Amino acid sequence: MILLNDFRRQWEDVREDCHRALERTGASGWYILGREVREFERRLAALWGLREAVGVASGLDALEAGLRALGLRPGEKVLTAPVSAFATALAVVRAGGVPVFAPCGPDGLADPGACEELLARDASIRFFVPVHLYGHCLDMDALARIARRGVRIVEDCAQSILARWRGRGCGTAGAAAAVSFYPTKNLGAMGDGGALLTNDEEVAAKARQWRDYGQRSKYEHVTAGANSRLDELHAALLLEAGLPRLERWTARRREIARRYREGIRHPQIGLPAPPQGSESVWHLFPVLVPEGAKAAFRQHLERSGVQTGEHYPVPLFDQPAMRHLPHEIAGDPGVARAFCRREASLPIHPYLSDSEVEAVIEACNGWPGA
Ligand SMILES: Cc1ncc(COP(=O)(O)O)c(C=O)c1O
Repeated sequence: MILLNDFRRQWEDVREDCHRALERTGASGWYILGREVREFERRLAALWGLREAVGVASGLDALEAGLRALGLRPGEKVLTAPVSAFATALAVVRAGGVPVFAPCGPDGLADPGACEELLARDASIRFFVPVHLYGHCLDMDALARIARRGVRIVEDCAQSILARWRGRGCGTAGAAAAVSFYPTKNLGAMGDGGALLTNDEEVAAKARQWRDYGQRSKYEHVTAGANSRLDELHAALLLEAGLPRLERWTARRREIARRYREGIRHPQIGLPAPPQGSESVWHLFPVLVPEGAKAAFRQHLERSGVQTGEHYPVPLFDQPAMRHLPHEIAGDPGVARAFCRREASLPIHPYLSDSEVEAVIEACNGWPGA
């Protein structure tokens, strides 16, 4: 079976570096917020071209830390994407905000132009969490214009590390960016992890406080924070095994995406193009099949030895938890719903061989269709 993610293959590659990371952390005798986290934060911030990185326990927490550090107050509205991981909306809710789900295009991405108009029209929305979904980079000029009008933006870069838009790094238009090191992510740990990135030292200081029980200094708790620290061991693994491979992994994802886009030729399989100007890092490879045909398409691929996924099967506003939580839907919910009914994801991890990539293309092209 050609898997969506193949961590065993990855382990064969990274094993020695991981052993070195474990050995170094163990021998240091310091397991929480020590040298490894500090060094990883320094390297991550430099990679991003931003001043500060704050390592936290997950991408979800990075988003929450960012919204809290930017001063979100209970009940305030936060514009965000209707199609994303549930964590995007959950972070807004946990930070005390009310999600407002933005209009999305037929490619499933929240439309920055429509968001700009909405934010110009509705002064009650002062926070925005745009999602650089699938590893694509949204229009950064539009995000920068929105930020200039005083809207506080935390960019959700969980899927888009290293993505750029016309040369400008994703995550650099807003006040802060959140990244995830969940194992499947482009820079994945062997467990959970995340980071908040920012140029604003005050935002970074607040996020550092929040992740560590709201402490300003030892035993001086100035806010009701959380326990959300990136582990020393994960920081060491990311430093030793992840960061040195990130460029190579990203290049391989791009190469696979290029082959899929050239090779998949089927009248009923749509290949949504990345936004114009996006230098995507292809965290996922979504395809669109006709309404009502997704199950048959996925079954066909399964029988052909190809695992597929769905990102995501329903819009965030249709999740059962949202029924009990205050939220708003801006724009036509039907567009997001139709997208979710049609979307399926093909394997695109960096350890796929060329022959597996060919097999995926053949399986797609051999689908009898709806
Ligand atoms: C777009 C997006 N936002 C946020 C998250 C949350 O990250 P984590 O799983 O590290 O909490 C994820 C990953 O699941 C994601 O894909």
